[in-house]
Amino acid sequence: MKDNSLDDFIENVRAQSDIVSVIAGYVSLHKRGKNFWGCCPFHHEKTPSFSVSPEKGFFYCFGCHTGGNVFNFVMKIENIAFLEAVKLLARRSNIPFPEKHKTPAEMAKEHETAQLFKALELAKNFFQACLVKTSFGTQARNYLVKRGISKDLMEKFQLGYAPPLWDKLLNALTERGFEIDTLAKAGLIVKRTSGDGYYDRFRDRIMYPISDIRGRIIGFGGRVLNEGQPKYLNSPETEIFNKRNTLYGLDKAYHSIRSLGNVIVVEGYMDVISLHSVGITNAVASLGTAFSVEQARTLRHYAQEIYFAYDSDAAGQNATLRALSTVRAMGIPIKVITIPDGKDPDEFIRKHGRESFDVILKEAISLLDFQLQFALRNHDISTLEGKVAVVSQVVPILSDVDNAVEVNYYITHLSKLLSIDESAILSEYRKYINKKDKNVNIGQTNYNRIPKDGLNPACTQAERQIIRFMFDDIGLIPYVMAQLPIEEIYDSSRKEIIDLIYNEYNIGKSADPSRIVHKLSDEGKNELSLIMLLNSDCTDITRVVDDCMKTIHLAHLHVLYEQHRLRADELERMGDSDYLQELAESQRIKNEIKKLH
Ligand code: CTP
Ligand code: MN
Repeated sequence: MKDNSLDDFIENVRAQSDIVSVIAGYVSLHKRGKNFWGCCPFHHEKTPSFSVSPEKGFFYCFGCHTGGNVFNFVMKIENIAFLEAVKLLARRSNIPFPEKHKTPAEMAKEHETAQLFKALELAKNFFQACLVKTSFGTQARNYLVKRGISKDLMEKFQLGYAPPLWDKLLNALTERGFEIDTLAKAGLIVKRTSGDGYYDRFRDRIMYPISDIRGRIIGFGGRVLNEGQPKYLNSPETEIFNKRNTLYGLDKAYHSIRSLGNVIVVEGYMDVISLHSVGITNAVASLGTAFSVEQARTLRHYAQEIYFAYDSDAAGQNATLRALSTVRAMGIPIKVITIPDGKDPDEFIRKHGRESFDVILKEAISLLDFQLQFALRNHDISTLEGKVAVVSQVVPILSDVDNAVEVNYYITHLSKLLSIDESAILSEYRKYINKKDKNVNIGQTNYNRIPKDGLNPACTQAERQIIRFMFDDIGLIPYVMAQLPIEEIYDSSRKEIIDLIYNEYNIGKSADPSRIVHKLSDEGKNELSLIMLLNSDCTDITRVVDDCMKTIHLAHLHVLYEQHRLRADELERMGDSDYLQELAESQRIKNEIKKLH
């Protein structure tokens, strides 16, 4: 919904919020050249790599690559949403908030969401009271005490107990004026399958409230007291509870995750609570689902490194492997904690205490070591079949490592472990790499061959410059737009930025970076901030822009050429006469490349 008065208000707040003085309220800054520098508040560092450009209105950290405008800074440091950051800065500059022009539908929706939060909050209070103050809760209380949970800890994690009755919560909340519909939407009650009416979802269970990062209750996990099934019953997905986006305990952990620079991800609610109880407060749990990309993204805001401490049983180890591939794909450094004695971190800590946990934390192994150990554990390496299986499992993993020294080290290591010749493993490794190189190019665009930060350094540089020039001089936008199709940009952040510039231009708006930055993904924001901090002094802009476009176009043609050539190879091998067409097309592209050079 477009609301011009809101846009104007936001723009006004931005214009009146001096980024340097806002950031100086949190970070001590020193002027050097045109920019200000300080130690980054978003990751741990001793030498300043955090810079603020008053001229451009952006900050950027060269250490952790976080950046953005004044709103993004406040959002991150205060952990609040965009509009709240705007409001906070508006108060700071004494700018009154504009009268809201909400449609009745928007108002109804907002009211409904607010009611969901309220209902869950009251439900939490109800469960807590049942646990602590009623005789219903005696057994649950004893159970928790037996598991080593103190009163303080129960309170800190707001643990509760759902009484063994069908409508206790339902009645309590409808008496407080809540609609049945709201309670059902909050996942607190369930419709009867036969007949009318509803009943309480959670009965005779220990209740673990699940909060969003701001500490608002969004759902519950309910554990049976003894051995009943299912062991855990969780809130269903609701409008405000999305498991993929949520991490149990993050509201209590993010401060220490940020200051330590790392996070420990565990499987269970109890693991988080146990770790906190011994002062390890940078722990969160992944909510019984596979560790998701969204969860990894969230954690990346606070941590530079993720430790996994999943259960030591087979299920936990498999879950670790799955989680690792999610995180690895995002390029976040990972360590795996092995729990030697006891099934999970909770049991381990209760048996051995904090010091022992610190030891296994120090002994955490890298992803590669974990995968290697995993392969070794699952095969009988005294047999030839076992050795072959291990090698064929490890080789693909090694093929992802882009450091030759590391690859060599592992090959030597593996050859000793399996007592087979190094050269045999090396040859398997080479075979695999060759095959992989051929396969990945067939079909769609091959992103694998493209280094992480773009097609090649020259291309990255060219794309960044073009973006910067379009921001500095709006007149260039139609010129670039006419000659640079968005398909030629392979890097997703820059693609997103350029796409946005084009779109804004098409609807008649100038692309002011500060105004559009909130429309970008986090990666896009960071990239844009970096671009705005680049030096863009240059005398002959059009010539440079032409050169940049040529660099990008050439790189694109190279990708196309490779695709057609490899496709031709493959078709020829399969005896398909269409290969000639592919070959001709690849030659045509090659000629085009030659002409451009
Ligand atoms: N889980 C779930 N539903 C289940 C089983 C497990 O949602 N039926 C989730 C819960 O978040 C749980 C986590 O997976 O905390 C790990 O499960 P498990 O190891 O079985 O439980 P613990 O947390 O270790 O619980 P406890 O120590 O109380 O047995
Ligand atoms: Mn457990």
